[in-house]
Amino acid sequence: MTAASQDPAVPPLRIGTPQSPGATRVMLLGSGELGKEMVIAFQRLGVEVIAVDRYPGAPAHQVAHRWHAVDMTDAAALTELIERERPHLVIPEIEAIATGALAAIEATGATTVIPTARATQLTMDREGIRRLAAEELGVPTSPYAFADTLDEVRSAVESGIGYPCVIKPVMSSSGKGQSVVRSADDLEAAWDYAMAGGRVQHTRVIVEGFVDFDYEITQLTVRACDGDGGTGTYFCAPIGHIQRAGDYVESWQPQPMSDTAAAAARDIAERVTTALGGRGVFGVELFVRGDDVYFSEVSPRPHDTGLVTLATQRLSEFELHARAVLGLPVDVTLRSPGASAVIYGGVDAPGIAFEGIAEALAVPESDLRLFGKPESFVRRRMGVAVAAGPDTDVARERATRAAARVRPVPGPGHD
Ligand SMILES: Nc1ncnc2c1ncn2[C@@H]1O[C@H](COP(=O)(O)OP(=O)(O)OP(=O)(O)O)[C@@H](O)[C@H]1O
Ligand SMILES: [Mg+2]
Repeated sequence: MTAASQDPAVPPLRIGTPQSPGATRVMLLGSGELGKEMVIAFQRLGVEVIAVDRYPGAPAHQVAHRWHAVDMTDAAALTELIERERPHLVIPEIEAIATGALAAIEATGATTVIPTARATQLTMDREGIRRLAAEELGVPTSPYAFADTLDEVRSAVESGIGYPCVIKPVMSSSGKGQSVVRSADDLEAAWDYAMAGGRVQHTRVIVEGFVDFDYEITQLTVRACDGDGGTGTYFCAPIGHIQRAGDYVESWQPQPMSDTAAAAARDIAERVTTALGGRGVFGVELFVRGDDVYFSEVSPRPHDTGLVTLATQRLSEFELHARAVLGLPVDVTLRSPGASAVIYGGVDAPGIAFEGIAEALAVPESDLRLFGKPESFVRRRMGVAVAAGPDTDVARERATRAAARVRPVPGPGHD
């Protein structure tokens, strides 16, 4: 049986033998820790996986059928690779990709980009997704303005956004180049920091009003087949998290919410993901104050805070993504409350080792993922501890205790 031909997002509903002429091939663009779990999910379904990153030995390279190290912002190199490997699906795992090349290939019908090339273009640029959400869809966000010069930043703040505000390069992730500004005295430093931290030099910035939220969540949202020839929207239980210096350090699921706020979160997530289209998992980032919910941004792919789903859901966000993009049914059932805690490298060294693993895994209902990154940095995410528990307080304590017991140490020849 083949998929409904009117929906190009759905590949044939059959899976061939990997590394044979009938293989179902997916190409992952970005091969970090999230990609590694995605590859494993695809491998379990017998899919042939080609993992791509800019450096060899990336986490997902280590579990794929084939791997390539190429500069994915190089449109010609990316196009050549896709034409050579002929994947049925191209699955971006990171933002910094030549998305114009993806759009061009998608337009030829040679492959399907997950969720869509347009979604990857809109979400890699804070301006694209913010204008779509706030101006086209009318979902609530922080007040914002875009600026190309320090003077424009100053007038945006003075003419309405006010202090505190947040300044971010439009092309950046993981908090790079982003700072909170509390007074006019700090504007210039924030501008300089944004200019140095953007993915593209001398990029635009977004100036956002600071949202004094009670808590923030990731609303994992899955667009998958509805069993009736169409696409349905499915919501995972909300994930609470703590961000520090631009990265998440702890997440838990479910985050308790008022019924009103939970409904608003799902409504915003449905509107934004429907507008982006295609199939797969989306991580919708939302700020919550009382019953009010504000859209912040969205990943058109599994989200790092969603690593917690490895401990909590019947199907992790990675398994959900694999199923959704293959046109298979999904199930977003929460099995247990749980939490995740990040393990940082702590040292700058290649080929590190981890000690204390047995002690970590002695924590009840805990588990570990060590990503196998070839080089450690003090603030590089090298692993994660996840734990289940009777409630999220117990699970958080377990996950952070397990993470703290893992000790990265320099490997042989580097002590
Ligand atoms: N307008 C705002 N008001 C209050 N806090 C904010 C605001 N914007 C960002 N933050 C805080 O900073 C964090 C990171 O912001 P944002 O998600 O926009 O950056 P990012 O670089 O895309 O991060 P990541 O790639 O890790 O998601 C948010 O999760 C939130 O904690
Ligand atoms: Mg974010």
